[in-house]
Amino acid sequence: MPDRKPSSAIDALLEEQRVYVPPNDFRDKATIKDETMYAQAAAEPDAFWAKIAGELDWFVKWNRVLEWREPDAKWFVGGKLNASYNCLDRHLRGPRKNKAALIWVGEPGDRRTLTYWDLYREVNKFANALRKLGVAKGDRVAIYMPMIPELAIAMLACARIGAVHSVVFGGFSAEALRDRINDAQANVLITADGGYRRGQIVPLKHDADEALKGTPSIHHVVVVKRGSFSVHIHEGRDHWWHELMDGVSDHCWPEPMESEDMLYILYTSGTTGKPKGIVHTTGGYMTGVYATTKWVFDLKEEDVFWCTADIGWVTGHSYVVYGPLANGATVVMYEGSPDWPDKDRFWQIVEELGVSVFYTAPTAIRAFMKWGAEWPKKHKLTSLRLLGTVGEPINPEAWVWYQEHIGGGSCPVVDTWWQTETGMILISPLPGITTLKPGSATKPLPGISAEVVNEQGERVPVGGGYLVLKRPWPAMLRGIYGDPDRYRQQYWSRFPGVYFTGDGAKRDKDGYLWLLGRVDDVMNVAGHRISTMEVESALVDHPTVAEAAVVGRNHDLKGTAIAAFVTVKEGKSSDSELAEQLKEHVVKKIGKIARPEEILFTADLPKTRSGKIMRRLLRDIAEGKAVGDTTTLADPAVIARLKQKYEEQEG
Ligand code: WTA
Repeated sequence: MPDRKPSSAIDALLEEQRVYVPPNDFRDKATIKDETMYAQAAAEPDAFWAKIAGELDWFVKWNRVLEWREPDAKWFVGGKLNASYNCLDRHLRGPRKNKAALIWVGEPGDRRTLTYWDLYREVNKFANALRKLGVAKGDRVAIYMPMIPELAIAMLACARIGAVHSVVFGGFSAEALRDRINDAQANVLITADGGYRRGQIVPLKHDADEALKGTPSIHHVVVVKRGSFSVHIHEGRDHWWHELMDGVSDHCWPEPMESEDMLYILYTSGTTGKPKGIVHTTGGYMTGVYATTKWVFDLKEEDVFWCTADIGWVTGHSYVVYGPLANGATVVMYEGSPDWPDKDRFWQIVEELGVSVFYTAPTAIRAFMKWGAEWPKKHKLTSLRLLGTVGEPINPEAWVWYQEHIGGGSCPVVDTWWQTETGMILISPLPGITTLKPGSATKPLPGISAEVVNEQGERVPVGGGYLVLKRPWPAMLRGIYGDPDRYRQQYWSRFPGVYFTGDGAKRDKDGYLWLLGRVDDVMNVAGHRISTMEVESALVDHPTVAEAAVVGRNHDLKGTAIAAFVTVKEGKSSDSELAEQLKEHVVKKIGKIARPEEILFTADLPKTRSGKIMRRLLRDIAEGKAVGDTTTLADPAVIARLKQKYEEQEG
């Protein structure tokens, strides 16, 4: 079993007995009505994936489906295609030309609708604008933007000319942006004057300027004018988006990309302090997100699909942009927060736009529960027919609440498990055929071989262990940008010959998978991955701090909250003022998502005789639980002192 003990919530989860069979009318109309796909995929995986890839538009067909030399996979070798062509051009031939591609809602209430034709023209123009700035195939372009249509346009424009985008979540700090720009050696940054969040202005350009003080690779900055925010324009380097677009042609030839050419880099947290640039390529990724959007969300021509994730995370890449657009779907995009101006903002949007498929995160669902069922009740949500969740384990109570109060008791709920690294959903129900158990992501999708193994890597037929993936899948990561050793080490060394997800899981007697969260030092705060080391490095960066240990503890809303144990340098005083300063320091280094919920000052940290900090014990303290086995500690007394101090501070 993972060294991290399952919490009591997870024990409860494993006793879950309720089941939900797909409603008859849903099953009758479902895209996937029976289980034959599972058997086909298992019998002939290459032929299975090739058939799906064939539903995309290729300039040149591949000659080999898969070349696998562990840990390096190549999919659809020899094939050429373009991701933006697959999301746009191919829909212009028929009635989709005038269908809404993006319906965007700004936080202050403004709204824009772009048809496929509109989006095509904007993407082509911006692709030409990028070419005008000298951006060429293979160049890296950093994107730091609010949730506005230009974000999707910028990504698709990069894809059109073969530039590699690296989207950095707009909530990250200037320093986090700087590190990511430097790691990718991006030449261009695309940002905006600002964005709106809870009625406040997010000063993106201001933060970008701060980052740009240490990014010698950047030659040009493109700034979208979102509002009337005052910004500094650096002559020669900065360009307004609308000025660059002025007079450029609305036709730009899509670059024929090799299937294995890079599409994007996306940074995510790993077990060390340094974020990893996860690399995704073109043919396999597009095949994977196209197929899973179609199967899991049971997409129909008339659906209005809303994935609430920010595009700065992988969920937004795969299920706001590439997956739904490759399917010709109507996508909703919302700029702001779910409780602005009031706690029914999401439900107001669902009603107004007639959203039919809604995909969000457990942390949001727990917040909706806390706010109360009266908020969704104010709106007619009958357009909804399917609900989804992603990002962390969902507790059965939240699942049932979601099904009842948002889904009106009649929508299937798909709990989808995947990662930045997997690129596409891998474990999920198929809503027309899978019997659901609240809290379980159910089974691997067709073509995916996920298994639970024990410490020795042996298959666990029933019971708990580590989640591994045994066969390559099309949208899998192709590596960590610039660091092949770390790629092998991180994912392919724990169990020989298989990909280690870093997650614990349990397989029940029906073969259903129950995901238990991370077993390593990566926390999942409100559905976002943050490593304990990242936060520790940020703390130790502060001049008063000698040493820090960070753990995630259970939290009602966020799933996990960050608790930090800090030792200050000799002669420095530790008080609540310093605690506040340290929290702000972490925000400055990483962003608000990493802000510690609490900081406890301590003279010593619990360490093993070899000097390893025992975070497991700190987690017990932070959760107010009985402290586990302390026999390997160099000085067991440290724990007793810490526990007492923690209780005093809390009490
Ligand atoms: C967790 C988000 C349980 C898991 C797409 C994984 C989940 C990490 C689920 C990836 C789920 C994601 N049930 N846990 N349905 N979905 N996770 O890279 O620990 O931001 O390894 O990708 O989130 O987070 P990432």
